Amino acid sequence: MPELGVNIDHVATVRQARRTNEPDPVWAAALAELGGADGITLHLREDRRHILDRDLSILRQTVAVKLNLEMACEQEILEIACQVKPDQATLVPERREEITTEGGLDVAGRHDRVAQVIGRLREAGISVSLFLDPDPQQIEAAAELGADAVELHTGRYALARPGPEQQKELVALTTVGAQIRRAGMALHAGHGLTYRNVRPVAAIEAMHELNIGHSIVARAIMVGFEQAVREMKQLVL
Ligand code: PXP
Repeated sequence: MPELGVNIDHVATVRQARRTNEPDPVWAAALAELGGADGITLHLREDRRHILDRDLSILRQTVAVKLNLEMACEQEILEIACQVKPDQATLVPERREEITTEGGLDVAGRHDRVAQVIGRLREAGISVSLFLDPDPQQIEAAAELGADAVELHTGRYALARPGPEQQKELVALTTVGAQIRRAGMALHAGHGLTYRNVRPVAAIEAMHELNIGHSIVARAIMVGFEQAVREMKQLVL
């Protein structure tokens, strides 16, 4: 059974919409642990659009399960990672204009920089996962770089129409997943996974970790909304 990493970025997105102190992603992480999360995942972006440095440093002290930091290969973030020491760093590409991480990292094309970043993280005792598209060439490059894990980008699968189109993407994930395991790396997956599409991905052989955020935060709002209104109604009676 894969481990579930809960991505709490979008709790922070709601907070940052008002630049206030609620909802606090630190509380959300504690609740995620109570719900059975095996890991807490967060992305410290260069523009600090959701997760803040304060969140990362408090979470390092409070999270009892695996703390997984998604990060770009930027020097500033690398220094912070080496200081805070999450259990795992997942290297992702990052562009300021994107709404979310749109594609996998190009490790085949950015070999030297990625190798440097992996080296620094390893020295700091941090395990390294690379977020890659299900592309055999990228997996080969990841193996050469000595990554501990590859997180397969499931965005194309998530966007595919259910039926043959989605099945084709699932086959691609499964085939490349086998390549990752043969190369001795752990198999992770994430991006766009939902309550409706997660099961076939979770069932891929030796799937070790799934990172899921948006769908869980979206459902949390919906399942909690009625109670939240009821509580406010009590106060204004
Ligand atoms: N994994 C990685 C590397 C990501 O960048 C993201 C999005 O932050 C996720 C998993 C989670 O994706 P989603 O929010 O669509 O579940």
